[in-house]
Amino acid sequence: MVNVESTSHPTMNVLFTLLTWATVALAAMQPLGPPTKFSGKDYLVKHAIQEIENLYNSTRLDSCAKCMGALALGKTIAIEDDRVIPEILQELCKKYKWQAVCTNVYQGRNFGVEAKAGHIANVLQLIDPYGTDGEYICHYQVKKACPRPATPVFNLTGWWPEKPADLEDRLAKSKGDRFNVVHLSDFHVDLRYQIGSESNCTSYMCCVEPVYNNDARKANFTDVVLPAQKFGSYECDIPQVLLEDSLRSVATIGANKSFEFGIFTGDMVSHDLDDWLSLANVIKSEEDVYYQMKRFLGDLPIYSTFGNHDTFPYAQQAQNASGFLGEFVWNAQLSASLWKDYGWIDEATQAEAVHTYGAFGVTTKRGLRVISMDSNFWYNANYYNYWNTTSPDTSGMMKWMVDQLIEAEKNAQKVWIIAHVPTGGSTTNALPHATEVFRQIVDRFAPHTIAALFFGHTHEDQFNVYYAGNGTDNSIDNALTVGWISQSVTPLHNYNPSWRYYEVDSDTFEIMESINYYAQLHKTFEFDMDKPEIANNGSFTRVTYPPRTPDEELEWIFEYSARDVYDPDQKWPREAPLNATFWHNAIQYIISNDTGREDYLKYEYRESPFVPDGSDPEYIKNMYCYFSSGTVPAVFECQKRMNITKEIWI
Ligand SMILES: *[C@@H]1O[C@H](CO)[C@@H](O)[C@H](O)[C@H]1NC(C)=O
Ligand SMILES: *[C@@H]1O[C@H](CO)[C@@H](O)[C@H](O)[C@H]1NC(C)=O
Ligand SMILES: *[C@@H]1O[C@H](CO)[C@@H](O)[C@H](O)[C@H]1NC(C)=O
Ligand SMILES: *[C@@H]1O[C@H](CO)[C@@H](O)[C@H](O)[C@H]1NC(C)=O
Ligand SMILES: *[C@@H]1O[C@H](CO)[C@@H](O)[C@H](O)[C@H]1NC(C)=O
Ligand SMILES: *[C@@H]1O[C@H](CO)[C@@H](O)[C@H](O)[C@H]1NC(C)=O
Ligand SMILES: *[C@@H]1O[C@H](CO)[C@@H](O)[C@H](O)[C@H]1NC(C)=O
Ligand SMILES: *[C@@H]1O[C@H](CO)[C@@H](O)[C@H](O)[C@H]1NC(C)=O
Ligand SMILES: *[C@@H]1O[C@H](CO)[C@@H](O)[C@H](O)[C@H]1NC(C)=O
Ligand SMILES: *[C@@H]1O[C@H](CO)[C@@H](O)[C@H](O)[C@H]1NC(C)=O
Ligand SMILES: *[C@@H]1O[C@H](CO)[C@@H](O)[C@H](O)[C@H]1NC(C)=O
Ligand SMILES: *[C@@H]1O[C@H](CO)[C@@H](O)[C@H](O)[C@H]1NC(C)=O
Repeated sequence: MVNVESTSHPTMNVLFTLLTWATVALAAMQPLGPPTKFSGKDYLVKHAIQEIENLYNSTRLDSCAKCMGALALGKTIAIEDDRVIPEILQELCKKYKWQAVCTNVYQGRNFGVEAKAGHIANVLQLIDPYGTDGEYICHYQVKKACPRPATPVFNLTGWWPEKPADLEDRLAKSKGDRFNVVHLSDFHVDLRYQIGSESNCTSYMCCVEPVYNNDARKANFTDVVLPAQKFGSYECDIPQVLLEDSLRSVATIGANKSFEFGIFTGDMVSHDLDDWLSLANVIKSEEDVYYQMKRFLGDLPIYSTFGNHDTFPYAQQAQNASGFLGEFVWNAQLSASLWKDYGWIDEATQAEAVHTYGAFGVTTKRGLRVISMDSNFWYNANYYNYWNTTSPDTSGMMKWMVDQLIEAEKNAQKVWIIAHVPTGGSTTNALPHATEVFRQIVDRFAPHTIAALFFGHTHEDQFNVYYAGNGTDNSIDNALTVGWISQSVTPLHNYNPSWRYYEVDSDTFEIMESINYYAQLHKTFEFDMDKPEIANNGSFTRVTYPPRTPDEELEWIFEYSARDVYDPDQKWPREAPLNATFWHNAIQYIISNDTGREDYLKYEYRESPFVPDGSDPEYIKNMYCYFSSGTVPAVFECQKRMNITKEIWI
């Protein structure tokens, strides 16, 4: 029921982001007065703070004009002295008591644990405050102060040649042979997970010390409401033991299934707050996850991509052309060298990846091209994406991907694209203009060259169908390709840990089957999650559970086959792939048949104790739009078409 990114993020953190922008959006149309009382840096800080108040108090400007004016002032100040921005934020934080402790949080990149303010100062220097840059920032970062700009129509036809007429004939045909590939996503290892700590805490991050449940405290309950369990808890990221156990299960089951390679669609680092997330801890987490993959999976090559948590500070990644890439190169350098050392990519690919932000393409032994893209270049929490939003490709990575696709097309080669944040589906976390670029690329190269796309991020077991053209004609003949959105290993929020593998056609590289494994985490609890006892204790409703003998080990078991569940009457030919047409039919089945919907939700949550009902007609309409949209504008367009009155996260 929840959008992972909007809730998994600590409320304070979201607030912080919004207020940070809102404030940097300092404002005021009045020209700067003469620096009579102050000089230099002090003058800038004090003046800016005064001007913010003027702006907030203005009765003449609407919210969009205030916000844009504010960005313009912020830009002027940032250019004058970028070190002032963090200081201004810190002063305002104290003055308006945005949070209990203002030191560190608003300090610049060179000082404390929180480095975001420094990156805001960077981005402010670059943006066009009165253009679409300003509109996007004010919409996405400043509480929708401006309406969302119209999706631009980028003309990308110069990026690629005409589709070769003989391509269809040159493509390999299925001989009925298959091989297996494992798909892992969203580990989120929490290096300071502590058994017995509060797993039902009021604000992030739960299952670490010292956090507690405010409601319980207010009602004078001093006990932990819901103690963190050995193998993990439903509102927490994973302890080391679950990271290792999940990979052990992949190794054990993989020994029988002979996995040929693995794809990992990102997010190694936990959802911890910025007060703990330091560059050192991000590096430690990434090294840990790569190392454990190598340790348990041996010679199995893993093709990896960065999640929005796999960078520092959270979600930030600058483009080379912005001039600020230097602060981020460590990530591609570190990761590419580990991938090479572990034998997952060769030395030439390593050298390339260092200059493509960690993105790379590899050809597997059977001839499939796997292209890994860093979705932080379309993720809406990366401030650098708000620079030059009239450009289809500030990082150059979209064009880089297209060049890879053109080369593959020439060779009649099939391509899989892996990335973390889906371009459509149930998360609208991608920036609309970037997904429009992506749409045109998919429309040009799928399904003949792009055989499938793979994502993670939502933590839920999902998919989305890309339709041809602008994606608004969702008829069966228009179904183009599929985004396979993998479930997470982390149980956050309320899922059982899970992973999947695909049976793949050895010649067409189409997905023939998706087999899902999971662990029933609730059976390792010292209490019975299936039997909640609700006690009202004054102002606090306490949920308790009867004690039980917990399973000592996590058991990883078969959960379901996509073909069996979504084609219950076995109408789809056994030799036909689970392509866009199959999933188009699955959409109809899920939204129109109670069994279909209940099964979808059950597996989306991996049969945890928290599977939602989802029978509300508005819920079903929302599901329909997420399933059938490959881009963010397509989601909004669908919601309009379906007369959706309530946006519901699935
Ligand atoms: C803005 O309004 C507040 C509340 O009415 C007031 O206290 C403050 O002095 C005003 N600030 C300016 C700069 O006018
Ligand atoms: C798009 O660009 C191509 C050349 O790159 C040009 O030939 C074509 O006319 C343009 N299309 C539109 C609609 O502007
Ligand atoms: C909690 O304890 C404090 C101090 O003993 C008391 O004043 C307060 O009324 C108690 N609150 C509740 C909800 O019982
Ligand atoms: C996998 O397990 C099945 C069922 O136990 C067995 O029949 C098969 O031979 C095994 N395959 C491999 C490659 O070990
Ligand atoms: C950034 O661009 C410059 C100039 O094109 C190039 O020399 C450099 O290698 C690039 N840096 C990275 C990390 O790709
Ligand atoms: C913005 O993007 C356009 C189109 O790619 C490019 O020509 C322009 O130089 C970019 N602007 C800046 C400030 O880099
Ligand atoms: C999509 O394309 C259809 C038909 O080509 C057109 O009628 C519709 O307005 C387009 N919608 C959007 C959002 O571009
Ligand atoms: C999916 O496979 C079926 C059966 O082979 C085929 O008829 C259909 O055209 C395919 N759909 C797509 C989008 O490739
Ligand atoms: C609150 O719950 C505890 C046990 O959980 C019980 O002992 C106590 O009597 C309850 N207090 C009230 C006011 O209901
Ligand atoms: C978690 O705590 C809240 C109160 O803060 C309570 O309403 C809820 O029932 C608790 N959940 C569980 C699973 O214990
Ligand atoms: C729903 O699907 C099931 C198969 O899972 C089928 O048995 C049942 O007849 C369908 N119900 C309707 C109303 O079509
Ligand atoms: C949405 O509302 C319009 C106008 O009331 C109606 O014509 C249309 O059929 C509705 N669409 C859906 C999917 O309910």
